[in-house]
Amino acid sequence: MLERLPRKVSIYEVGPRDGLQNEERVVPTEDKLRLIAGLADAGLRRIEITSFVSPRWIPALADSRELASRVQRREGVTYSALVPNARGLEGAKAAGMEEIAVFLSASETHNKKNVNKTIDETFAAFEEVIPPAIEAGMRVRGYVSTVWGCPYEGEVDVERSLAITRRLLDMGCYQVSLGDTIGVGTPGQTERILDRFAEEIPLDKLALHFHDTRGTALANALVGLAKGITTLDASVGGLGGCPYAPGASGNLATEDLVYMLEGLGIEHGVDLDKLVDVAELAQRLVGRELPGRYFRARLGERRRVAERAARSLES
Ligand code: HMG
Ligand code: MG
Repeated sequence: MLERLPRKVSIYEVGPRDGLQNEERVVPTEDKLRLIAGLADAGLRRIEITSFVSPRWIPALADSRELASRVQRREGVTYSALVPNARGLEGAKAAGMEEIAVFLSASETHNKKNVNKTIDETFAAFEEVIPPAIEAGMRVRGYVSTVWGCPYEGEVDVERSLAITRRLLDMGCYQVSLGDTIGVGTPGQTERILDRFAEEIPLDKLALHFHDTRGTALANALVGLAKGITTLDASVGGLGGCPYAPGASGNLATEDLVYMLEGLGIEHGVDLDKLVDVAELAQRLVGRELPGRYFRARLGERRRVAERAARSLES
C-alpha cells in the first residue's frame, strides 16, 4: 500500500477556525493574529482563519471582520474563512478574503443543528454565496460534514455524501473536504468511502478532514494518502471540535501529520520545531493542555533537555 503514496502533500490548517470555535475561552483578536502569523512562519501555506457566521451561534469567532481585515497577508499563503450565507459573504468581501469555504452536512439532523436549515435550504443559501463569490474573484472550497457518521443519526449512506459533493463541485467549489466530524471513522471504512468516491470524482478534487476523537485520524489520513488524496486538513496542537456535534473533539494534530509525512519522505513544507512553538502558544491562549501526541512528546523532550542543562550548570 505504501508504494503508492504522493510525493507532496498540501496541509490545510484549520486551527484558528475549527480549533478556536469550540473553546470556552475567547481568544483576543491580537492573540489570534499572533497564532496565524506563527502558522505562516512555520511554513503552512493554507490557513483557515475564522468564520463569518452568526456571533450568537459561534461567539468565539465574533471578531471575524476585524481579524480578517487585520491579518498580514504573506506572499504564497492562502487565507480562508467559513461563510454560510449572503450575509457572511458580505463580511468576507469587506474584510478582503480571497478564499471562502461553504459547509453543510451529509445528515439532515446535524445540518439542522449546525446551520438551522435543511440540506436543500442550505444549497439555496449557497446560490447566494458561491456564484457571487466566484464572480468577485474568490476561490470557494466546500465541506461535507458527518461523512463517517452523525452524532444524531449514526451511520450515513456514502451515496448522500457523494451526491452533495458532486453538487458542490458543480456549483464551482475548487475542492471539497470530507469531514469525519465526530472522529468515528476507521481505516477500512475510509478505504470503502474513497473507493466509491473515486468511481465518480477525481480524487484531486477532494481533501480529508479528520477529528481525532477515537485516535483513528492518522490511520485514516494514511489510507487517504495511499488512495491518492493530496490535501489533508489538520489543526495545530490538535485543537478543534464542532459545538453542534456533541462529543466532537480536536482535529488531527498538524504536528502528528507532519511527523508522519516526514517519516514517509513526503514533502510538506512545514518546520516541525517551529510548529511545536506555535502549538505551545495555542495551548497558552486557550488555557488547557492540547492533545497533539507529537507536541506532548516534544514538550517532554524539551523539558528533559532543559533539566539536564540546569543540572550540569549546578554541578
Ligand atoms: P439563523 O438563526 O437561522 O439565521 O442562523 P437567520 O438568517 O434567521 O438570522 C438570525 C440572526 O443572525 C440575524 O440577526 C442575522 O442578521 C444574523 P438579528 O437580526 O437577529 O440580529 N446572521 C448573521 N450574522 C453574522 N454573520 C452571518 C449571519 N447570518 C445571519 N453570516 C446561521 C443561521 C447559518 C447564520 C447560523 O446557524 C450559524 O451561524 N451557524 C454557524 C455554525 C457553525 O459555524 N458551526 C461550526 C462550523 S461547521 C464545522 O465545524 C464542521 C467542519 O469543521 C467540517 C467537519 O468537521 O465535519 C467545517
Ligand atoms: Mg471540523
